Amino acid sequence: MSSKKIRIGLIGAGNICQNAHIPAYLKQSDVELVAVCDLNEERAKEVAAKYNIKHVARTIEDLVALEDVDAVSICVWNNAHARAALAAVKAGKHVLCEKPMATTVAEAQAMHDASKAGGKVFMLGFVNRFRSDSLLLKEMADAGKFGDIYFARAGWLRRRGTPLGWFTDVSKSGGGPVIDIGVHVIDLTWHFMGKPEPVSVNATTHYPLGNYQTKGVGRWKALDTDNLIFNTEDSAAGTIRFANGASMNFEVSWAVNMKETGIYSYIFGKDAGASLDPLEIYGEEANYLVDLKPTTDRGDPFACEIRHFLDCIQEGKEPSITAKDGLNVQKMLNGIYDSAKAGREVWL
Ligand SMILES: NC(=O)c1ccc[n+]([C@@H]2O[C@H](COP(=O)([O-])OP(=O)(O)OC[C@H]3O[C@@H](n4cnc5c(N)ncnc54)[C@H](O)[C@@H]3O)[C@@H](O)[C@H]2O)c1
Repeated sequence: MSSKKIRIGLIGAGNICQNAHIPAYLKQSDVELVAVCDLNEERAKEVAAKYNIKHVARTIEDLVALEDVDAVSICVWNNAHARAALAAVKAGKHVLCEKPMATTVAEAQAMHDASKAGGKVFMLGFVNRFRSDSLLLKEMADAGKFGDIYFARAGWLRRRGTPLGWFTDVSKSGGGPVIDIGVHVIDLTWHFMGKPEPVSVNATTHYPLGNYQTKGVGRWKALDTDNLIFNTEDSAAGTIRFANGASMNFEVSWAVNMKETGIYSYIFGKDAGASLDPLEIYGEEANYLVDLKPTTDRGDPFACEIRHFLDCIQEGKEPSITAKDGLNVQKMLNGIYDSAKAGREVWL
């Protein structure tokens, strides 16, 4: 590893920035946090004071114009991911962009194209790929343990877990659980499947619960919780087809009347199958069915993600999560909304 310190600009100083990105950067020795910006300037100033950050920039564009910023972490609302990423790429900065890549395929396409021309590291923060169990499962898939994977199931069903704040305002988030948590599990499962080209989606979205007042449940909170707009779906389900003939069934919810599932992913290959979470392998040996339960800890996914981003910058290599991956996932996510709206299967 080079001893050169990478100088980081933080775009958006809210929850994920303060509770995931900054702690992960602070665990690395080759990093310096040098700039921060936020719509809420007081918040940016507080974060700068707490972490001894030199610059508080007024806008995203002012931050990326700073010469002593090498790379940025994009942690703003989803509707500003494209603006921030395009400005950063244009200014010659390396980019780590939180999930989802964008709110529309057109934005994601523009980000993808710009990143290709920019020639710097461009990575999406699909953090679940960096869990220890995900890394192990992917290693097994790549080693051919499952044979060709032809079918998968992906899901994350929360009973009353609608986040509070901008997440439920489509103009800021781009969508509900599909774009907030579906992005994690659909990307993860697609990654285990070997990233086949998505060709069509047939899906439904549902809006029955909206702004419920259920007591006694913990919910993810954006730092500002004064939003009163609830125009996102509560749940969605459907099927994604791929060019190699494989398919993925998915179901996601922020609020649905059933027992919570947490994030889950099943992959089915000719030779074996697997599930996550918990990690289990379903195979056959000597004509007997055998279940394998590899043991891993959770690791430190955000630290692992940030380390990979920094390694790619230091070594000039392409990240394992590319702009092309982000674009393909965006096509699947927006395909879900398009299909639900059209009431039929749509081609991507
Ligand atoms: N990887 C994960 O598991 C995970 C978890 C939660 C959130 N996220 C993502 O992180 C991002 C931020 O979510 P959060 O929970 O931290 O929300 P948040 O509201 O707590 O923080 C976002 C911050 O961005 C600022 N902001 C918004 N638009 C801006 C703009 N145009 N210019 C400057 N600042 C702007 C807001 O003022 C706020 O301080 C979202 O994209 C979300 O999807 C990822």
